[in-house]
Amino acid sequence: MSTVEYEIKNTSELRQAEEAVRMGELENMRPLPRISVHAFCESEGLQRVMERCASDRRLSKVTMRITSGGTAAAANMFSNAPTPNLIILETRANPANLLAELAPLAAVCDPSTKVIIVGYYNDIGLYRDLIRNGISEYLVQPLAMPDIMGAMAAIFVDPEAEPLGRSIAFIGAKGGVGASTIAHNCAFGISNLFSTETILADLDLPYGTANIDFDQDPAQGIAEAVFAPERLDEVFLDRLLTKCSDHLSLLAAPSLLDRAYDFDGQAFQPVMDVLQRSAPVSVLDVPHAWSDWTRSVLSNADEVVICAVPDLANLRNTKNMLDALRKIRPNDKLPHLILNQVGMPKRPEISISDFCEPLEVEPIAIIPFDIGLFGNAANSGRMISEVDPKSPTSETFSQISHIVTGRVAVKKSRKGGLLGLLKRK
Ligand SMILES: Nc1ncnc2c1ncn2[C@@H]1O[C@H](COP(=O)(O)OP(=O)(O)OP(=O)(O)O)[C@@H](O)[C@H]1O
Ligand SMILES: [Mg+2]
Repeated sequence: MSTVEYEIKNTSELRQAEEAVRMGELENMRPLPRISVHAFCESEGLQRVMERCASDRRLSKVTMRITSGGTAAAANMFSNAPTPNLIILETRANPANLLAELAPLAAVCDPSTKVIIVGYYNDIGLYRDLIRNGISEYLVQPLAMPDIMGAMAAIFVDPEAEPLGRSIAFIGAKGGVGASTIAHNCAFGISNLFSTETILADLDLPYGTANIDFDQDPAQGIAEAVFAPERLDEVFLDRLLTKCSDHLSLLAAPSLLDRAYDFDGQAFQPVMDVLQRSAPVSVLDVPHAWSDWTRSVLSNADEVVICAVPDLANLRNTKNMLDALRKIRPNDKLPHLILNQVGMPKRPEISISDFCEPLEVEPIAIIPFDIGLFGNAANSGRMISEVDPKSPTSETFSQISHIVTGRVAVKKSRKGGLLGLLKRK
């Protein structure tokens, strides 16, 4: 063996030995939640490290893609595809050019997406610049698997890390207005359109229809969660979920009347907490009721959507709900309003403008009454976008999915300049 070969062998053995010691750092690492990660690797070395991360048990819930290429490949890919929860991007750009090189990617990146940059310059000034511009971490090559795992854990599992998931609660202004149907179609839309892991929780324990709407016959997911809060963690939640489609899981209601369902005010808080730690989006189908626990769910959700049909009782109830929610969520934006079943034949209706004027809110969507379409979907256990993807109602659900996850606002805010978007740490 030549001296050079010996040194190379020796260095790689040293690195392996060092890594073996450092693997111990991972022993106590909690599993990553259901996030999507896309790594762009310029070097084979990083590609190998990413492949090893992908096969680690702590990433078993993570959807990982590994592509060879750098910033340009990433910007190109995401110009017409949604960005994942985390992008890991390797670049050889020098410190002077790096921020400018990232600008095209920033322009197409959702603000909720985290970015880890893997670079080649050990430069504290560059590190500070990147962090200031919303990059979550800057790692310098050569890297070993524990470096990447540790960086991902710091963003998504560290107790100090900002909460991963956002919750969107749907409630009807009156019984039977279609709040559950809308919640289910939006949960499906969010998971499908953005490839975002989404959990739909059916909070209507006695009568919930999510199980029927998704043609599932699962165990009583949410009942076990809410009645055993002391056992409830991410692992227990996993066992209670039923997979509905690639990125959508259901926490189903028992829909049985073998017991009474009375809850104290905070009963659903542990469920909401574990959902928030487990997936980037949870959709809460809240039954039409006004009790301590529904008020607490609505007050803790990140977004509230009130669904109503355009008649007088719905108008009065929507007004009261908006006033009440304004009081219990004084620092949040107002709930969204969706008008549903509009144009039902022979039903006297209040016009959209007369309905909205006293409320002082614009509906984010108006969904026509379409008994054929909704009836077909309900009876066949499918969503509107599966039954008739080209229908205007399917497009409306897509728009609602964008709005409630803040994706439309993103497009507007792009006017604010490309690098502004990098501020999303
Ligand atoms: N736009 C629509 N056109 C026609 N039918 C609709 C429409 N939206 C919902 N429906 C139907 O209305 C019925 C009630 O819907 P859903 O169960 O979603 O209402 P809800 O507000 O959740 O009711 P609950 O008060 O029982 O929770 C369902 O049969 C559903 O298929
Ligand atoms: Mg319902």
